[in-house]
This record gives sequence, C-alpha cells and structure tokens, in this order.
Amino acid sequence: MATELFTLKGKTAVLTGAARGLGLTFATALASVNCNLAVLDILSEPSPSLLALRDYHGIKLEYYRTDIASRPEVTAAVEKIEVDFGRIDININAAGVVMDEPFLTTTDQNIERTLAVNFTGSFLVAQACANSMVTRYKSVHGSETAAQPTTGTIIFIASIATYIASSVQQISCYTASKAAIKGLVKPMAMELAPYGIRVNSLSPGYMMTDMMRGLQEQQPQLVDQFEKETLFGRIGMPEELKGTILYLCCDRASGWYTGQDLLVDGGASTWKHPANLVSS
Ligand SMILES: NC(=O)c1ccc[n+]([C@@H]2O[C@H](COP(=O)([O-])OP(=O)(O)OC[C@H]3O[C@@H](n4cnc5c(N)ncnc54)[C@H](O)[C@@H]3O)[C@@H](O)[C@H]2O)c1
Repeated sequence: MATELFTLKGKTAVLTGAARGLGLTFATALASVNCNLAVLDILSEPSPSLLALRDYHGIKLEYYRTDIASRPEVTAAVEKIEVDFGRIDININAAGVVMDEPFLTTTDQNIERTLAVNFTGSFLVAQACANSMVTRYKSVHGSETAAQPTTGTIIFIASIATYIASSVQQISCYTASKAAIKGLVKPMAMELAPYGIRVNSLSPGYMMTDMMRGLQEQQPQLVDQFEKETLFGRIGMPEELKGTILYLCCDRASGWYTGQDLLVDGGASTWKHPANLVSS
C-alpha cells in the first residue's frame, strides 16, 4: 500500500537550494523513491552527499549552478534540464536567504536581495517549470483541459514566520518575501489545475540547517529560544520534513491537495508559550 502511494520512479524533480540544508533533505527523500533530480543552486559545489545520491539510488542527478534571481540563468538551466531529462514533473523551491535586521533600519540591499531570491527567484523557476509541464500536457492531451489525472506539482517553501513572529528575530523583510510566495499558491493552483498541475506551499517551523547555524552564530541564544517555543522543547531536524515532502510530491498520496499551505512546526504556533509570559 505505502509503496503504491509513495513512488516517483521515472519522474523528474527540479529542486532549488538543494546544495545543502532543507533542499538537500528533500532531494534525499525524493531519491529514496527513485525520483530523478535536477538541482539549481548558487553554490559552486553542492554537498558531496547530494552527488552521492546518484550512485546510491541509481538515479539520474545533475547539478546546475544557477542564481535563481536571474531570468536568463533560470531560462538556460530549465532548457538544459528539458534536454537532459526529457520531462519535468515536480518543482520544489527551497532556495532562500535571510538577514536579521530591525524594520526601522532595514537596508535597500536586504530588501532587494531577499525579495529577488525568495520571491522573484522562486517565481521564475516555478514559471519556467510550469511552462514545461503545460507543454508536455498539451502534447499528450491536446486542447482538452478537464478531468485529466494530475501530471505535475509545484511546491514553494514558505515559513512559520508568516504565522507568528518570534521575539528573537527581526526579519520583517524575509517574512514579507515568504508571505509573497504563499500569495502565489491559490491563483497558480487555479490557473494551472486545467493542466493537471497542483500548487502548494510548505511552511517549516524552526529547523536546524546551515541557515539556522549562521543565525545562531550572530545570536547565540536563538536556538535556546526556539526550543522553548515548540511544544516538544526542541528544534526540528530536517529529516522530520521528509514524509511531508513525499506526501506533497506523490500524486497518489496528495492528488486532491492543491492551493494550500502546510505548516509543520512542532506546535510552535499553536500556543502562547511560557517564554512570552511576563514574570512578576
Ligand atoms: N531552517 C529553518 O528553520 C527554516 C524555517 C522556515 C523556512 N525555511 C526556508 O527553507 C528554505 C531552506 O532553508 P535552509 O535552512 O535549508 O537554508 P540554507 O541556507 O541551509 O540553504 C539555502 C540554499 O539556497 C541556496 N541559495 C541561496 N541563494 C540562492 C540563489 N540566488 N540562487 C540559487 N540558490 C540560492 C543556498 O546556496 C543554499 O544551498 C529557505 O527558503 C528558508 O527560508 C527555513
């Protein structure tokens, strides 16, 4: 039963930001169910554990060094992926940046880069992948656009920050960029449903990744505070999102799920945690 629901054999996923962090974890999850992987990231070299997935699972995996904020680079990468893989079935947009700056003194540089990567970059990659999926759909189904089985899925990575502000972070610019991504989900789901494409976002809670380690170096108390804010008293591990991403990607498991944001946060947004109570 589970193997029927969760298989991606013969499918191709385009992942951004999978050279490390949550994107790498998503790549690992997809590889475990035999999905072929095309990875876009700005780093010159991905983690060796990304490249190791190729032989370990016997999948096709290619790495395309790309700045997703650049339309020409995204267009070139997705055209190359179509040639290299022949099809695009899944797009996961995990590339992201965050800079902690008070709202009152947020710099132009932060506004421009954060929106360029988190919002515009995800938009550009999703647009290129959606066009590829629609072209393939039309080649199979002609102009028929009703009641066809699901043929593609697009997933944006948003954030718990769009649900609840943490007192130890000043990330209004980042939060707005993630809210903008969530704003794409419903209109895209509506526009792309006739081509059998589902569109959702995943909002992780506080997860221990390189991004989090970087923040922790700037603010040593950060992880301590986040641990207090979840119901389990600890920060999340990237592996704890593997099941969620497989659910979202596998049509047989989530074929009726589209136009939604899925929040997975260890309960951090469900309570008024003790750290917020004023001591007398
Ligand atoms: N870690 C968390 O607690 C957390 C919580 C909620 C949401 N998120 C989101 O999850 C996603 C992954 O976060 P992470 O913690 O793994 O971060 P990370 O910094 O470890 O990984 C992000 C990846 O994006 C890549 N990237 C950055 N700019 C790029 C660009 N212009 N073009 C292509 N690639 C680029 C980086 O090189 C890196 O590989 C991000 O969108 C982040 O906002 C993270």
